[in-house]
Amino acid sequence: MSTSYKHWNIITDDENITWLHLDKADSTTNVLSHDVMDELEQELNNLNKKPPRAVVFLSDKKNGFIAGADVKEFSQLKTEHVALTLIQRGQRIMNMIERLPCPTVALIHGFCLGGGFELALACRYRIADNDSKTKIGLPEIKLGIHPGFGGTVRCIRTAGPINAMNLMLTGRSISARAAKKMGLIHYAIPRRHFITAAKSVIKKASPNHKIAWWAKLANHKLARPWVKKILIRQVASKAKRAHYPAPYALIDLWERHADDEQRFMEEEAISVSQLMVTKTAQNLVRVFSLQEQMKAYSKIDNYHPKHIHVIGGGVMGGDIAAWCALQGYTVTIQDREHATLARVLKRAYSLYKKKLKKRLFITEALDRLVPDINGTGLKQADIVIEAIFEDAEVKRQLFKEVEPKIKPECIIATNTSSIPLEELAPALKDSTRLVGLHFFNPVAKMPLVEIVHGKTTSDETVQQAASITKSIRRLPLPVTSSPGFLVNRILMPYLMEAVVLAEEGIPLKAIDQAATDFGMPMGPIELADTVGLDICLKVAENLSQTMDIGVPECLRNMVNAKQLGKKTGQGFYNFKKGKPVKPALAKDYTPPTDLADRLILRLVNEAVACLRDGVVESTDMIDAGVIFGTGFAPFRGGPICYANNRGIEQLVKLLENLDSLYGHRFKPDAGWSQLIKKE
Ligand code: NAI
Repeated sequence: MSTSYKHWNIITDDENITWLHLDKADSTTNVLSHDVMDELEQELNNLNKKPPRAVVFLSDKKNGFIAGADVKEFSQLKTEHVALTLIQRGQRIMNMIERLPCPTVALIHGFCLGGGFELALACRYRIADNDSKTKIGLPEIKLGIHPGFGGTVRCIRTAGPINAMNLMLTGRSISARAAKKMGLIHYAIPRRHFITAAKSVIKKASPNHKIAWWAKLANHKLARPWVKKILIRQVASKAKRAHYPAPYALIDLWERHADDEQRFMEEEAISVSQLMVTKTAQNLVRVFSLQEQMKAYSKIDNYHPKHIHVIGGGVMGGDIAAWCALQGYTVTIQDREHATLARVLKRAYSLYKKKLKKRLFITEALDRLVPDINGTGLKQADIVIEAIFEDAEVKRQLFKEVEPKIKPECIIATNTSSIPLEELAPALKDSTRLVGLHFFNPVAKMPLVEIVHGKTTSDETVQQAASITKSIRRLPLPVTSSPGFLVNRILMPYLMEAVVLAEEGIPLKAIDQAATDFGMPMGPIELADTVGLDICLKVAENLSQTMDIGVPECLRNMVNAKQLGKKTGQGFYNFKKGKPVKPALAKDYTPPTDLADRLILRLVNEAVACLRDGVVESTDMIDAGVIFGTGFAPFRGGPICYANNRGIEQLVKLLENLDSLYGHRFKPDAGWSQLIKKE
């Protein structure tokens, strides 16, 4: 017997087992949108009235089970009351699943995140695909909230407070095997055995995972205040309460109510609805939707490259090649030296060990990464990525050698960080296929890739480059071929202002602290030392040809003295074991009141200039690029969002004031007038 809803397909088989297939209409991914939940509630009412022998939840989507709640709906939640109603309804539906008078099973493959995992947790049994694509987790914290459909209570009940809090506080997703270890699922098996396994647990009830005694102890009311202190300390080292209230709210919730599940559940709903309407959550939800917008730049479905050839096995090329092979591509990596290629493989091995863990997966990934000193991979390549020295003439020479050897439809990408494509294009007979793929360092950590389109780059090439970028799980951002593209152009004035402040005698630690207090992941002085002062100088000098950036003399002096930062052990800071030694501030030291503004407003002013110059297509994309390319405080929603929140006119006045005090580098960009009109 079968019943069809718009999103659910319900089949009851001849063993009287009801299979609830979720296949959200008009979407490639299952999410728990309002109408998906409506239909589910309706069906649960039917099942409750006439229970079958068992109920099994599964997904008909290729990419996974359920990716979570529908984040788009979050932005419509304007008041706490509206948010609370939505959350309570979610809890009610999950409780209905939990209370069905028959066994319930969730069959999990691919994404099983947030609300999707909360639904699975409400089932009696969970079976997950042991494939590497399975991702299980409760990432709500990344959106400025915590689980709200009873997930906090059920996750702690199932995995114990230590594992559960770790999962929820980090928002990380885990493999089926790791979830099995924590007791969050009952079986991790190949997907082809799902149906048999589901029938088997229905027939013969499986015991639940036993939580270790010491983990249970952490839940005791006398132990909780101590554990809370430890958790708060861990959270505080990563996120300030004023910036990210959600993890603190989650810890408080558990500490107060872990003894009473009913109350815990009620308070969970209240806490989430309060968090949902905070500026932090709203900005983080916007950042999430910006990510989706960037992924949507990859529009073409009929482009399926298989082979990537990378030239230059240095810091960037080596890591780009390793990353692409990790994502399933066959990659040939070419360099002039065997020793460099050996280093690429060594680094790739460390990356794969960390990411893939299982020996079989590591070997498979290494097999896909082929050292190729003679460039034999060129003739099969669908895309060539060049990452050799930052020298236009050397790159042009390489392109001349490469072009006759590749297929006519092969894309030629350059990872240049500063050379306009127009300077490289003349070396090619067909420069419509030349595009910039500007990765950021370290490749495995930085999600952004700027897709640089020059005057001759064809639209098709840009689309294909965006498609490849998305396929390797990076975020494509189309930018014009202008000096510094987007990210370096916006970042450099901020770094240079930090150097000016250092020259003025402001303690380095105070400069960095002003930025981290604002919400930057790392202070600008430490960042400059980490990137390398020689690289900073080179980019700043390049940019100073077209913009009023001002390159401080002390930077030149340090580079001349070979004090290049982390890589030489001495830059602004002295580095010990790769970590900067930051001299403590004097007890009575108070930083200048305009310290943070001087740093941040130079960055924001340049962001406005990029908007005026049309470096990217929209305000949203400026915010997205700066967040994903520099780590700019995500809870502030990006530089333009920050400017809007703080007040455009007020910021223009502030810049004018800084201009009169410190010089023209603070002159408000002409682009501000566009924003004033929009206000
Ligand atoms: P690198 O100096 O570490 O590596 C360059 C590699 O290219 C060397 O291994 C060299 O042997 C090889 N090479 C040079 N000419 C070659 C040729 N004709 N054939 C084959 N191999 C050749 O340089 P890095 O830092 O990896 O930079 C590479 C490119 O990436 C540059 O264009 C740079 O501007 C850009 N970039 C660098 C970033 C960074 O943080 N280092 C960030 C983003 C872009």
